[in-house]
Amino acid sequence: MARIVITSGPTRQYLDPVRYLTNGSSGRMGAALAQATLEFGHKVTIISGPVSVAYPAAAEVVDVITTQEMLDATRLAFESADGLIGAAAPCDYMPRHIESHKLSKTGEGLQLSLIETPDIIATLGASKQPKQWVVGFALETEDIRFRAIVKMSRKCCDMIVSNSAEAMNSDDNSVEVILRDGSIVGQLNGPKQEVARGILLQIQKHLVERS
Ligand code: C5P
Repeated sequence: MARIVITSGPTRQYLDPVRYLTNGSSGRMGAALAQATLEFGHKVTIISGPVSVAYPAAAEVVDVITTQEMLDATRLAFESADGLIGAAAPCDYMPRHIESHKLSKTGEGLQLSLIETPDIIATLGASKQPKQWVVGFALETEDIRFRAIVKMSRKCCDMIVSNSAEAMNSDDNSVEVILRDGSIVGQLNGPKQEVARGILLQIQKHLVERS
């Protein structure tokens, strides 16, 4: 039995008490991966941004809002875990300042000054223990395989799942599973539950049984 942490869903970065930046992630891939991970007999902790998807009852769920909160909760859970699957789509930018009151319209538009948020899997990939492993996801629209491999290396991942843009907010997914040496160990498409089982099979074979 391995202990596996899964990040899932979007994060939010508030501009003022009512407005925020986010993205279109539903958490469905995270939920499907959690279900598949449990079916393989592993213990699952999901660090989730705000979603309406239902996670499996047997998974521990830690709810977060911002990317920094997701990093903090994931770091804590990963300390006593064997592996991390980064299925979340964290918001990559946050406002330099958060207004404490609701911004009023002035008729002149609004200039936002944004700074980058931390990258969760890159941060934890760079500091993982030799026996720990990290799996990332990559969503690209051109040079898909090459960019996924570059991303895996840059974020210190042991495996990357390269998926198509159609995956966002869809029930289906079409992915390639790629290892550190560039070998493609899976080409999967279909409902997210089935794709998640195929991904877990490769994680089991190449990462869980290796460590
Ligand atoms: O760079 P990009 O967002 O395309 O990378 C996607 C991968 O990185 C996913 O595994 C996602 O969960 C992870 N990620 C992260 N923290 C961020 C942005 C992306 O862990 N701030």
